[in-house]
Amino acid sequence: MAHVLILPYPSQGHISPMLQFAMGLTSKGLNVTLVTTSYITKSINTQIGNVFIASISDGYDESGVRSASSLEVYLDSLEGVGSKSLEELIEKYNQSTEPFTCMVFDTYVPWGDKVAQSVGLPSIAFSTQSCSVSSIYHLVSKGILDVPEPGIIKEMFALPSMERSEFPSFALKDGSYPTLAAFALDQFNGNKDDWVLFNSFDELETEAITVLKDYFRARAIGPCVPFLPKANGHGNGYGMSLLAPEDNVCMKWLNEKPANSVVYVSFGSFASLQNKQMDELAEGLKGSGKYFLWVVRAAEQKTLPEGFAENPGENGLVVTWSPQLKVLANEAVGCFLTHCGWNSTLEAISFGVPMLAMPQWTDQPTNAKFIEDVWGTGIRAKVGEEGLIGRKEIMKCIEDIMDGEKGCKIRNNAKKWKELAKDAVTDGGSTDCNINEFVAYVNAMAE
Ligand code: UDX
Repeated sequence: MAHVLILPYPSQGHISPMLQFAMGLTSKGLNVTLVTTSYITKSINTQIGNVFIASISDGYDESGVRSASSLEVYLDSLEGVGSKSLEELIEKYNQSTEPFTCMVFDTYVPWGDKVAQSVGLPSIAFSTQSCSVSSIYHLVSKGILDVPEPGIIKEMFALPSMERSEFPSFALKDGSYPTLAAFALDQFNGNKDDWVLFNSFDELETEAITVLKDYFRARAIGPCVPFLPKANGHGNGYGMSLLAPEDNVCMKWLNEKPANSVVYVSFGSFASLQNKQMDELAEGLKGSGKYFLWVVRAAEQKTLPEGFAENPGENGLVVTWSPQLKVLANEAVGCFLTHCGWNSTLEAISFGVPMLAMPQWTDQPTNAKFIEDVWGTGIRAKVGEEGLIGRKEIMKCIEDIMDGEKGCKIRNNAKKWKELAKDAVTDGGSTDCNINEFVAYVNAMAE
């Protein structure tokens, strides 16, 4: 039987979609092992659904990435120690009765591809970002597309016209986060015969996936969102959280609220806002008069106004982590104030929840652009003085989405996209067909 090794970058936003993809493959009869760092495997089961979990070392087995002196230092160690450890793991499996047939590596783990080549294992790239963002990175890296200077609107083939601030931040070449920017720009270096899988679906990003097909065997195999109605292994109900959700508190609170009455607020697993922005957000949420459920990770709670976490007013609840899929699936939630990470965006689309976009960096500004201007499933809050989004703007946007005429259109679009997402993963849908094609390819290799 074909045995696929799946190698995500070791963080929530990457493991989660790749695990969902892995589950989809097991439901099609493939044997799948997801490999991640020992530090992470300590807190998850050795088997999730039918997917086996195996560990490699990143050099930080005891305390994880947060104990590295910088991200650059961590990435060096992840590559150096990780490559060796991965090679040993592959050799061990290859001497067993279940050798690997191929490796699906995250494009943010390019060294995984090098290891695969060194041990003669076929490799397939997987992108956890949107097709549009991926196509921008690829075209910028090949010198085909230039990011415009501020104030200029760039007309582009197969993508909406965009200004500089709407491009993914790693394409700006402004010198910030050089290691990550280099990863982002160089992540697609294969050729036309090479598979690249995308966590998206054909109907959502028709034009961008067409562009990518000019360069690779690009296929959209998403949305990799676990709670979608059951279809071919999607919707299997298994989420994966690296942090413990405050399940009981959150869901009990939400279950008592009327339909479409709650603003759910989360900035994902990484982004952090400055204190002044947190003040404006806190006042905006309170002033909106709506219920709000706000995730502020434990490490970020110090940026909240004093005493706010314990006493956010009678309409609010602040938690350190939520079971986000359950929250978005709950009918009480009428608006998702989000940083527009790609997983959060796809999750909101899959559950038909309107979005209020407050993008921070990386791919988020581009995702926010698409949410507002292409899919019509949300609006972007406008950045005002000092680069801040003020409380009044937050209140206005919440009102527009939850009460206004604009909100009605947005809700209709959100419903439409939810149906299209469901259709894509259902038997015979675009994603289902793309996964079948990939499974046939893997099975042929194993024969
Ligand atoms: C990052 C980037 O921001 C994202 O754009 C990229 O595509 C992947 O890496 P992150 O910032 O964490 O990810 O955001 P996002 O992609 O939205 O992923 C966050 C995940 O954490 C989601 O799957 C979400 O459901 C989950 N989550 C978040 C929870 O389960 N509970 C929470 O309280 C918050």
